[in-house]
Amino acid sequence: MRVRILGAGIVGLSVADELIRRGHEVTVVDPAPGSGASYAAAGMLSPAGEAWYGEESLTRLCLSSLALWPGFADRLGVPVHTRGTLLVGVDAGDVQQVERQLAVLDLAGVSYERLLRRELLAREPGLGRVAGGAFLAEDHSVDPRAVVAALLARVGDRAGLDTPPPSGSMVEPGERQRAGVETNTAADVTVIATGAHLPAPYSSLIRRVRGDVVRVRTQERVERTVRAWAHGEQIYVVPRIDSDEVVIGATTEERDGPLLPTVEGVWRLLDSARRVVPALDRASVVEATSRDRPGTADNLPLVGPTHEPGVVLAAGAYRNGVLLAPLIARLVADHVETGSVEPAVDPRRFRMKEDG
Ligand code: GLY
Repeated sequence: MRVRILGAGIVGLSVADELIRRGHEVTVVDPAPGSGASYAAAGMLSPAGEAWYGEESLTRLCLSSLALWPGFADRLGVPVHTRGTLLVGVDAGDVQQVERQLAVLDLAGVSYERLLRRELLAREPGLGRVAGGAFLAEDHSVDPRAVVAALLARVGDRAGLDTPPPSGSMVEPGERQRAGVETNTAADVTVIATGAHLPAPYSSLIRRVRGDVVRVRTQERVERTVRAWAHGEQIYVVPRIDSDEVVIGATTEERDGPLLPTVEGVWRLLDSARRVVPALDRASVVEATSRDRPGTADNLPLVGPTHEPGVVLAAGAYRNGVLLAPLIARLVADHVETGSVEPAVDPRRFRMKEDG
């Protein structure tokens, strides 16, 4: 098949890599590869840490994709940080939040280890005053920028990588790509993987959920990902396996506006992070980034056919784009080859607005 993929974020590139591996002829179009949500992502592979009520299907998909990650990372030559994740609460109210989350894991059949304060400190000596928590042994992390770089190298070598010059704003590629959908007849299938900005008539399927993220460098050892409730704020602290970088994330805001981190967002992240890991006080701030998560109305992705023949979505990965990338790649490639569709993520479950 000749497949054209719109969007070179982690999802689009993973789809490209999978299709190339299966012998298809692939072209990827993106004015600025890897510059969307993949650029901000902390890279948590965290089905348990992200699990919540009413999202059982999403948790099941995330667990399936986690199982694909070791092989995927091996192929790309990127390390996976496999020291697990601590889920902690700073005060008594926060520990109740943690308990609620553990109840969700009980329902999903996902195991965890409940830990007392001193046991948490034994796992992560840099923790501040936390009141309680749990260890999520199977929640890992990767560096998404390293994953995108590895995918770009592989895909760039073996596919057409078309990077038309951006026309100013990051939010315009969708419109440019829509023009491509209409005029390009060289492809048998077009896969739309343009993240938070889908072209018409699909744009209404996505709700953009803004996230601010801060990257710091620290000489202090942070052993593993810490997900925390800190006086009602939810944050995560994700150390890199092979560098002194630590990612502190993320705000969750249902709003638009300039794609720049806000003072309030950055302040809330840093204030909570230094309560959870006090040594981060001495870290150097290297970057604050803001990107939109591609959310959907039911928080499940949009993967598979549309009402337009030959147009397939690989979209709506919301908070789990990095984790879900290998599963989405497999589902899209299976669909292209056999027509199979995973009902839970079938884009046709939603009506599309004609005006986009
Ligand atoms: N998965 C973490 C986030 O979306 O912030």
